[in-house]
Amino acid sequence: MIICVINNKGGTAKTTTSVSLAGAMAQSGLQTLLVDLDAQASASLSLGEATGALSPSSADILFSGMPVAEAARRTQVAGLDLVTGGMDLANADLVLGGIAGREKRLAQALRPARADYDFIILDCPPALSLLPVNALVAADGCIVCVSPDYLAYEGLMALLRAVEHIRDGIGARVALLGIVLTMVNPGLKVTRQISDDVRRRYGDLVFATEIRRDVKLAEAPGSGLTIFEHAPASKGATAYRALCDEVLARCRPGDVAAESY
Ligand SMILES: Nc1ncnc2c1ncn2[C@@H]1O[C@H](COP(=O)(O)OP(=O)(O)OP(=O)(O)O)[C@@H](O)[C@H]1O
Ligand SMILES: [Mg+2]
Repeated sequence: MIICVINNKGGTAKTTTSVSLAGAMAQSGLQTLLVDLDAQASASLSLGEATGALSPSSADILFSGMPVAEAARRTQVAGLDLVTGGMDLANADLVLGGIAGREKRLAQALRPARADYDFIILDCPPALSLLPVNALVAADGCIVCVSPDYLAYEGLMALLRAVEHIRDGIGARVALLGIVLTMVNPGLKVTRQISDDVRRRYGDLVFATEIRRDVKLAEAPGSGLTIFEHAPASKGATAYRALCDEVLARCRPGDVAAESY
């Protein structure tokens, strides 16, 4: 199954969620591939890759047809492979813009890799450009990360509408697996208010697990390991393990949470 982690808003813990979910899946014995679709390559750097050694990257599978098996590398985490991101993705819209079927490039590239992995997680850049569109077309399910600050609620409604337009416009079958509240600071009134609003409006689509702020999650990228190796007993690790369980439960065939939103 292919899952993309999206929000066009920056800094909503998409990368932290992608890396942690992929880490939790690998730890559960599931063969997992993380595909970094961001020019910032935060997911790749978080897993210990060096900025000077990001090639081959997802740009090669998207632009030049390199097989995923050739572009993927092992990480230090058992059961977790990675296709890196990198600066070559920065002009993806220009490069892909002139190509027929430009929004289907990733779906085509990942098709042969589906047999090699139980889960493929796509970490998207903060945009609704051709890269996230490719991710939405390739994915079976998407997870939206929302950090409950004062701009989040309006942004979420606009994002979900945009996803629906993309999905219907292109004929993609991606289902919304759920909305995850991230970087939650329960001591803040605005956080509680927005979390309540999101839960009231989207009900069961919102994962029960909230990811609270935890300095261990902010430190983990510096260690080049996921939260499960960096601080296995931390609140962040416990929360992402619980989120992974919820995601896996929603991925059971025939049990996808929502087809319309
Ligand atoms: N629960 C958390 N507690 C503390 N820090 C966190 C938490 N989640 C994420 N962070 C930190 O917040 C910052 C932004 O998170 P992250 O990079 O995952 O967001 P993003 O949505 O991928 O950002 P971008 O839009 O730039 O891709 C990072 O420094 C990350 O380590
Ligand atoms: Mg990111």
